[in-house]
Amino acid sequence: MKQFDIAAIGELNVDIILNGIESEPEIGKEKFAKEMTVTLGSSTAIFAANAAAVGSKVCFVGMVGRDSFGSLVSSSLEAKGVDTGYLIYGDTPTGATVCMNYGEDRANLTYQGAMDVMGFGDIKPEVFRSCRHIHLSSLFMQSALLRDIHKVLDAAKAEGVSVSLDTQWDPVEKWALDYKSVLPKVTVFLPNEKELQALTGTTCLEDAVNAVLPFLGHAMVVKCGSKGSLLVRKDGTQNFLPAFLNKDVVDAIGAGDSFNAGFVSAFVKGLPLEECQRCGNLTGAVNTTAAGGTGAFVSKEAVRKICLEKFGQVFSL
Ligand SMILES: Nc1ncnc2c1ncn2[C@@H]1O[C@H](COP(=O)(O)OP(=O)(O)OP(=O)(O)O)[C@@H](O)[C@H]1O
Ligand SMILES: [Mg+2]
Repeated sequence: MKQFDIAAIGELNVDIILNGIESEPEIGKEKFAKEMTVTLGSSTAIFAANAAAVGSKVCFVGMVGRDSFGSLVSSSLEAKGVDTGYLIYGDTPTGATVCMNYGEDRANLTYQGAMDVMGFGDIKPEVFRSCRHIHLSSLFMQSALLRDIHKVLDAAKAEGVSVSLDTQWDPVEKWALDYKSVLPKVTVFLPNEKELQALTGTTCLEDAVNAVLPFLGHAMVVKCGSKGSLLVRKDGTQNFLPAFLNKDVVDAIGAGDSFNAGFVSAFVKGLPLEECQRCGNLTGAVNTTAAGGTGAFVSKEAVRKICLEKFGQVFSL
């Protein structure tokens, strides 16, 4: 028996969310914001928290600084039921994002800090022995992890650990990931439609799918927002599953991470790929029923209730 179902390897940061800002920032001037929230950010943290909420045993592997933001990150993960025993405390400050909200629009400014420093050598070898599955996310936010990606994937393989990968968007849009050598070592690839096209240099979903198909390790699911998701198996067979449409979306922040949480939690339970996809579409939809990425994921019972009452679906986890 392994101690953890899932080790989430990814970025950690604090979000400093400013609301009620009188006007845009200007060099040389001082402006006021009416409200501020300081909270756990990071899309991999949303994944980990929501996978734990639906019953997976999850540990987090990420780097923070020896500072108060690092303590906030660690205590917030613990409060969500995510094990923090493998967090790495480095000399670089914890990353932070200043989110300036202007109605529906927002301007974000990120200091990557420790997240950009964590490489393979910082990860304890026990991680690979103590989990059944590794979920890797936000690669382009973490240059040391991106540099060491093959070492991480080879260590997982040596321990017989399955791997899911969600690269997320590349903020510098260089897409410096050699998918032809990386994807064969990834069990389930979980990009969204735009990311898959950018990574493969294609302009439509069909061309993008065809570009990666020869290199898939086992399967891929392409997340297509409110349209739903496309499951593609290594043998080329596909299954498009429309989204469980939520008529009154609160916001879609973290819908992709929540999809990953449902999909991967079902996958580590050994459920068939179509059922993993249904769980992913459901947790993606549940995400949109409350504010932020984790608001709706109070407990497995709460998620089950939303699935049944809002979407008429039985949540099988
Ligand atoms: N409005 C919606 N109603 C119902 N389900 C939704 C909605 N938006 C997204 N979903 C579900 O969530 C899944 C993931 O969402 P999306 O495609 O936006 O991921 P993403 O682009 O990776 O998001 P993120 O910005 O969180 O990384 C979709 O495949 C879909 O099943
Ligand atoms: Mg995403």
